[in-house]
Amino acid sequence: MATGTLQVAAEAHDTFPINGTDYVEFWVGNARQASHFYRTAFGFQLVGYRGPETGVRDRASYLLQQGKIRFVLTTAIRADLSPDAERIAEHVQKHGDGVRDIALWVDDARDAFAKAVERGATPERAPEVLRDEGGEIVIGSFKIYGDTVHSLVERRNYRGLFMPGFVAVTPHYAPDEVGLQYVDHCVGNVELGKMNEWVEFYAHVMGFRNLLTFDDKTISTEYSSLMSKVMANGNDRIKFPINEPARGKKKSQIDEYLDFYGGPGVQHLALATDDIIGTVTTLRDRGVEFLSVPTTYYDDLQKRVGTIDEPVGELAALGILVDRDPDGYLLQIFTKPVEDRPTVFYEIIQRKGARSFGAGNFKALFEAIEREQELRGNL
Ligand code: FE2
Repeated sequence: MATGTLQVAAEAHDTFPINGTDYVEFWVGNARQASHFYRTAFGFQLVGYRGPETGVRDRASYLLQQGKIRFVLTTAIRADLSPDAERIAEHVQKHGDGVRDIALWVDDARDAFAKAVERGATPERAPEVLRDEGGEIVIGSFKIYGDTVHSLVERRNYRGLFMPGFVAVTPHYAPDEVGLQYVDHCVGNVELGKMNEWVEFYAHVMGFRNLLTFDDKTISTEYSSLMSKVMANGNDRIKFPINEPARGKKKSQIDEYLDFYGGPGVQHLALATDDIIGTVTTLRDRGVEFLSVPTTYYDDLQKRVGTIDEPVGELAALGILVDRDPDGYLLQIFTKPVEDRPTVFYEIIQRKGARSFGAGNFKALFEAIEREQELRGNL
């Protein structure tokens, strides 16, 4: 198979239908402050809360929303009160703030869970029914790489806000949204030699197909390299690239992540917008820091990607990257890590037909990451 090209032959045969990403849950050290950051900087709206005031003694969770994106930020407040809270505290101690759960919206959570486990998934939590006046949710989960899980969420008999236990909030402080619409893809970093194991997991357990493969030649700079395979479900709403480090002269950015996260985990979430110039302008104004590429990147941009709708000068001023594939083009930009550990970061992406991931930008991008690694003393 050609490197870095879209595969057309391999088809997904989803083990169970997935309607989309239901929510992404982060386990964090201080959910109140993290929610302030995501609201102020990224324009998420605080819509729900669960904690001591709602009868949960050991944890606090903030439900943030923007477009179709739902983030849940959860912290342990009394690790001594329950195994659940203890697990959150241990996770934060080991990983820092990070993604615990990429929850998937399914039609039948019991059936999906049974099929996943039958095909080899390791259960985390057997499906249970949660009820309140809004109806009922069925939710179960299984393990993926590191300490990360996929919850399966069935909400066909639920008309409430989000999930039993959460109460609606309408805060006085509500900075405007920035135009983020949905989760485009979630990327996992795994250890050297483990990428194919997780590719096989998504293929066998979930019925996903291998949409794209990048080898260490595609994704390499003078100093370091990585390998990546993108797994996608049948309707393409779920796309999970899996990265592993490859040997280079210096330390791969994936090795840096694994060292500082304390093992495999989610590296970045790509959030989609249909106005990347507007979205990134606002994010920058609000203090979000992005990786920058040398201005020479823009010198022959149009020669590389052809005609695009956006003024190149505006893209250059913001550092937005462009790439083209047979279906169209895409615009993308990457934040610096959003916590002190060089772990989780965000991609802002606008797709104009393109279905790929910006392979033409990998070199410029990874050189930008290496400059940051160098500054941290980790290259
Ligand atoms: Fe990405």
